Amino acid sequence: MSIKLNNKKKPLKINSFERINKINKQIINGHTDVNQLVPFKYNWAWDRYLSSCANHWMPQEINMQRDIELWKNPIGLTEEERRLVKRNLGFFSTADSLAANNIVLGTYRHITAPECRQYLLRQAFEEAIHTHAYQYIVESLGLDELEIFNAYHEIKSIRDKDEFLIPFIDVLTDLKFKTGNTKNDQKLLKSLIVFACIMEGLFFYVGFVQILALGRQNKMIGSSELYQYILRDESMHCNFGIDLINTIKMENPNLWTTEFCKEIEQLFLKAIELEYYYAEDTMPKGILGLNVKTFKSYLRFIANCRMKQIGIKQIFPYERNPFPWMSEMIHIKKESNFFETRVMEYQSGGTLDWE
Ligand SMILES: [Fe+2]
Ligand SMILES: [Fe+2]
Repeated sequence: MSIKLNNKKKPLKINSFERINKINKQIINGHTDVNQLVPFKYNWAWDRYLSSCANHWMPQEINMQRDIELWKNPIGLTEEERRLVKRNLGFFSTADSLAANNIVLGTYRHITAPECRQYLLRQAFEEAIHTHAYQYIVESLGLDELEIFNAYHEIKSIRDKDEFLIPFIDVLTDLKFKTGNTKNDQKLLKSLIVFACIMEGLFFYVGFVQILALGRQNKMIGSSELYQYILRDESMHCNFGIDLINTIKMENPNLWTTEFCKEIEQLFLKAIELEYYYAEDTMPKGILGLNVKTFKSYLRFIANCRMKQIGIKQIFPYERNPFPWMSEMIHIKKESNFFETRVMEYQSGGTLDWE
């Protein structure tokens, strides 16, 4: 078979032939060459990229034998616990594909700082690893893959959450959508807030609590280990997203109007309502020392944290964290992590504090 080579050379399209002055870099609507990573302006993005790479892991490093035995044992788990695991995987198994598509097909092209793009490329790969991890659990336990991967269509409490998220992804993936005016820049910023603070920063955290609570009772240990790796990654994604949002805000103060903040507040309220309904659906009777009431507190507590992190007035300022062990899991140092063995081998210098 012969391959026809196209020898017609097209001129390389780049934004500017001038050498880059980092002062001119902008997170959005920048005009510096996106192919030149350095000189750095956004060192925080590069630092997060390095930390993420140093935390590399793969799902098949985790031994699932004990989970398989427990799942196959008819009295290994209660019906409520099985329902929780399946509903949880039903949300997460497609959520990370949505997240990856949002980055690759949406967010990436609207960000004009190459060090932020570099982080997004790493993040996209991590989302692929997360989807792989959920598939690995489904396969290991011998679950019905059609049931789990279709849950975001078939289970109302999951579908409602995704239907809330998808319009904010669609805005960015629409090829006709361009930033460069206040209205569209606000649309982009709103989508970034929904993605980092509500999807990764709120919906995901509640899902993690459920499986990590099982792990704390010595059940589904392998799955729990996988979720702990994912939690650490998501915590980084969420914090990167918050830095991105706050820098865009600083560079474009015109976007942060009172009306815009009100809209964001409404989105948080809607998200809390959806997540509360999901908690009721996944744990109708209360389970593992968790019940929908404590979940409500946790949701409000997390929402407050996210709002504070992006400078929005907190809607439930007096809510306390009912699951302090969760913050321990997020902030735990690697060397004291209960399951940490394999990842230590990937460390290549630098500090690896969890965020
Ligand atoms: Fe993820
Ligand atoms: Fe993520």
